[in-house]
Formats: sequence, structure tokens, C-alpha cells
Amino acid sequence: MKFDRISEKFHNNGALLINNDKGHINQLNRDEIINVFEKTGLIVFRGFNLNPDKILETTDIYTKTYAADAPRRQQMYGKKNLNTVDEGFHEMPLHSEASYSPSWPEILWFYCVQPSLKGGTTTLCDGIMLWKKLPNNIKDFFLSNPIVYNLEFPVIKKKKGYGEKEWPMNTLGSSHGILDYENGLLKIKQTRFAVAETRLENLLTFTNHLMIIFKNEPQIKSLNLVNGEKIPQKIIDEVKNISNNLIYDLDWQTNDLIMLDNRRFMHGRRAYKKDQKREIINIQTLKANFSFGSTIRNI
Ligand SMILES: [Fe+2]
Repeated sequence: MKFDRISEKFHNNGALLINNDKGHINQLNRDEIINVFEKTGLIVFRGFNLNPDKILETTDIYTKTYAADAPRRQQMYGKKNLNTVDEGFHEMPLHSEASYSPSWPEILWFYCVQPSLKGGTTTLCDGIMLWKKLPNNIKDFFLSNPIVYNLEFPVIKKKKGYGEKEWPMNTLGSSHGILDYENGLLKIKQTRFAVAETRLENLLTFTNHLMIIFKNEPQIKSLNLVNGEKIPQKIIDEVKNISNNLIYDLDWQTNDLIMLDNRRFMHGRRAYKKDQKREIINIQTLKANFSFGSTIRNI
């Protein structure tokens, strides 16, 4: 297989695979795809004959379990694991999908049914490159301060008079779980570092939900340090400034499928006009069916 480089803004440049020999995506060499994915964190499959009804047959090849997605999203094509991307037309700042939640997907898939003609590009930032560019005082801050996300998910029907009960979660960093029948909510605190280890040796990545716009993320009630204090705005602003120079705009072509390492990359979206039709399907692999770093460590 011949992979083209996408951008120097990414560590190892990303990988674009154009279907020149008119093969079927499900026939590609799985081991090679996994190896390129682990190295680059981003593969764009272009020119394959895909259709939304069959896309899960492709993602199944690399997936052990799918994530239960945010309930706000609309399901598509009658399939449980196909969802629209975030609703509305506004700009979405960089984030790693559900990095605040107990279920943090390992792979994100985006499939473009129809790109918008103007605007609406997907923004991508490799957290490895961002981490490298952060000054030492900010690195120190995030290496020593995990973030506590206060969460409320609407998971059940409201039952008046039923009160609430403890709901322990068996996930690292998840605590204070409460099932609130009265309001139909699962309330939980998730403690997680904003920086994470990668599939690549000795490289860390800055990948998290710190740059969000709160009104667009109603499930996140607050976001603090362990001692209850806020993250200094000066630090957030500096991270945003540095990340702006590392953003790559992915210009969608119809039928593009992208495979993104969600534990390494952050993504977002540029705003677009209401009269533009844009249809992008999102699939979230919670756990891949290959282990973290498996093709990197045995070389
Ligand atoms: Fe997202």
C-alpha cells in the first residue's frame, strides 16, 4: 500500500490512502493499516466505494466494542453505532471525543456523505505536537494536576419520588457515582490528566476537553482541579494560542473515511452557513481489537 503524507503539522505526518487500484476497503492488509494508524494516528481513506449502510462492516475489522454515544445525537440510517457529528453550525473548539467521561473512545471514525461547499472543515490537532510546543511551566502544571470533570448524563426516564442511589463505576478516576431517579440523571466525577501516554515510546500527548464552550456541553457541569480551584485562564489562553498554529483543516471529499487516534489527536469544526448541507457520520470505537502500541513495540 502506498500512503501519502498529509501534513508536517502532525508527528509522522498523517497518512492518506488513495484507492488507485479500485480495491475494496475491507480487503486491505489489516496489520499494515494498524501499524500505520499507530504511527501516524490519522488515516484518510479516499476513493473507496463506501456506503453508510455498510460502514460498520469496515469499522468492525478494528473494533472490539463501540462507545454508547452522547444521547443528544441523532442516530442515522437506523443503526445504533452511527451518529451525526455535533449539531448546529457553530465553530467547535478542539477536543478529544468524550475525554471527560468514563468511556473515552480509542478510535474515532468520520465518514463524509456530503461535505459543505463552504466552511465546515474538520479541524485536527496532533496532541503530541502541541505537548512539545508547550512551555515547561505549563507542562509541569498539567503533569502534576489532574482535572476533575463534574458530569451529569441523562440516562434514564425521570421517576418522581424514587430519590437517588449510589452508583459506583469500575473505571479509573470515576467517583461519586449517583443515579438520580428524580431527574433521570447519572451524576459522576471523572478525574483524568489532560496529558496522556501514546502508542509511541517516550511521547506524551495533550488531549482533553479543556478548550470547550460550556453551553455546548450540557453534560459537563464544571471542570476544576482536584483542590476545587479553577484552571488559571492564562494557562488555557496560552494553550489555545499555541494550538491555533498547529491546526490542520481537513477539506472533506465525498466518501472520505477517516480513522483517528482519539487518545492522541483533538478535533473540532469550523463554523459554516445554515444553508449549507453537510453530512458527516461519526462512529466511536471504545476499545480497538488490537492492543495499545501492539505494532510499535515488537519491531
Ligand atoms: Fe467531537
